[in-house]
Amino acid sequence: MTTSALGSFPATRMRRLRAATWRRRLVRETILTADDLVQPLFVVEGKGVRQSVPTLPGVTRLSIDEAIKDAQAAYDLGIPALALFPVVDASLKDDQGREAVNPKNLLCRAVTAIKKAVPDIGLICDVALDPYTVHGHDGIFDGDDVVNDATVDVLVKQALVLAEAGCDVVAPSDMMDGRIAAVRRVLEDRGLVNTMIMAYSAKYASAFYGPFRDAVGSKATLGPKGKHTYQMDAANTDEALREVDLDIAEGADMVMVKPGMPYLDVLARVTAHVNVPVLAYQVSGEYAMLMIAAANGAFDQAAVMRESLLAFKRAGAAAIFTYAAMDVARALAGKS
Ligand code: PBG
Repeated sequence: MTTSALGSFPATRMRRLRAATWRRRLVRETILTADDLVQPLFVVEGKGVRQSVPTLPGVTRLSIDEAIKDAQAAYDLGIPALALFPVVDASLKDDQGREAVNPKNLLCRAVTAIKKAVPDIGLICDVALDPYTVHGHDGIFDGDDVVNDATVDVLVKQALVLAEAGCDVVAPSDMMDGRIAAVRRVLEDRGLVNTMIMAYSAKYASAFYGPFRDAVGSKATLGPKGKHTYQMDAANTDEALREVDLDIAEGADMVMVKPGMPYLDVLARVTAHVNVPVLAYQVSGEYAMLMIAAANGAFDQAAVMRESLLAFKRAGAAAIFTYAAMDVARALAGKS
């Protein structure tokens, strides 16, 4: 008998599978655990600094000593990895993003210090120039646009100083063409064979990045074109498949779809299309929307966070970057 022949009421009552907690647990298709979460941290100069970001509720910029405490807490909660972003002092920014390739820059020092204090947590670092440029763009300019190949030359150097500082995963988030192959080549040349590359492959030009740009101070003067000449057009999904194919062919170990919740269709298509781990990013704007609405009494914060992150898993994410990682891990452990 076919399933459809059986599927008539009352032989089939779908509610039987839902009638008790144990039944739902037994047949659940998707599970969210701390293993699925990556906690982003913003690192700033100083000591004992925990600075809140008004547009990103619950997120703080941390000096390295404080970031070490959070790294330890994340590790204790079972979170496998952190994504580190630097908040660069304005005096160190220029139009070329030169500070990005300084082996003693804030992010390199943070990587080394956290790795020493909490050696078993994975560290993922963005490779892109936006925290380091006065204009807030991910690359350098030639005329009125970000130039591809010269930017890739700088990104390769940036990836190398990060890897040499102890970063486990370099994560080009700049959307230049050919950067994955170039970064892979230099890592191999230097014998850094275990450094992973997580390519932000399907990264869309999105207004949802607003609060992140407040947090790192890169909002400044993006100009009328914004990042639309290098980040993807929100209207496209075939293009996402081309992007991930190219990055995998160039040597990426993992790929990323970003933003997350408004782009779960892209995530589902990409995970069906490739056989490398696909990560997704619940970006600052989507996180902030949920936090601000919850703070206004619209819904329960912990419940919407878990539901949204479960939706990423359902769409096929191997792991999720979320500012709520530690909160969610605490809730999953029954500690909140
Ligand atoms: C920088 C970068 C951005 C984000 C991660 N890396 C912003 C941007 O591309 O302008 C956004 C993350 C978020 O919004 O949470 N290349």
